[in-house]
Amino acid sequence: MDFGAGSCWITEALARMGQQVTAFDIHTDLEGCISGRVEADKRIDRALISHATGDGHAMPFDDNTFGHALCYDTLHHMHDYDKVFSEFARVLKPGGRAIFVEPGAKHSTSPETIEFMKLKSHDPTWIERDIVLEDINRCATASGLSSLAIVPMQHPSTPTVFSCVIGESSAGETYGYGTCFLRRWQRPTTISVSFSIARYPANFRLLAGFTRWSCVG
Ligand SMILES: C[S@@+](CC[C@H](N)C(=O)[O-])C[C@H]1O[C@@H](n2cnc3c(N)ncnc32)[C@H](O)[C@@H]1O
Repeated sequence: MDFGAGSCWITEALARMGQQVTAFDIHTDLEGCISGRVEADKRIDRALISHATGDGHAMPFDDNTFGHALCYDTLHHMHDYDKVFSEFARVLKPGGRAIFVEPGAKHSTSPETIEFMKLKSHDPTWIERDIVLEDINRCATASGLSSLAIVPMQHPSTPTVFSCVIGESSAGETYGYGTCFLRRWQRPTTISVSFSIARYPANFRLLAGFTRWSCVG
């Protein structure tokens, strides 16, 4: 399961690896996201992909449905970690893993998050929470998951799909390193790049477009 699938880029990546995958999200356009990807690249095997809309606190799946669950950047938007973990434990088959890629313990109070929340002020349902590993361990253990493994991700040295320049400081230095994933949204002609930077410098400004690209892997 791709939990909190969003635009379904992880769903696409898993299907490309030959995995049967279910995109799951609270939004209602999963079909649009998936069909856009499949139309854009006929090599993606549509038969491997299913989708379901619902709330992660009460997942619309039977017990023991999934071999594994991958949650990219979504757990920290959940209101009730206990409920979500008990749902992961319920829908996973014995031996299954729930894998999370999430920000850390000070996420909710970081300057970037505070700025971002201003953009989301129209949406009272949007929350940005901390991921405190002790809490996660407690929730996971209480839900019946048996072990917690942590893989620290280092920025900016995490493996990069594409490296690109996304901005520059007034001193002319360029920034834009980190994990950059090429994403394709619904329209085949449109791509967007997700980037991750540990911290923007104070004088950082976003460039209007991508001026340079270098493929590094
Ligand atoms: C930051 S996005 C990450 C999306 C995707 N994993 C990615 O990396 O682009 C968080 C996602 O969580 C979904 N979401 C928020 N609340 C949810 C809930 N209660 N249950 C399921 N999905 C939820 C949102 O619709 C959104 O797609």
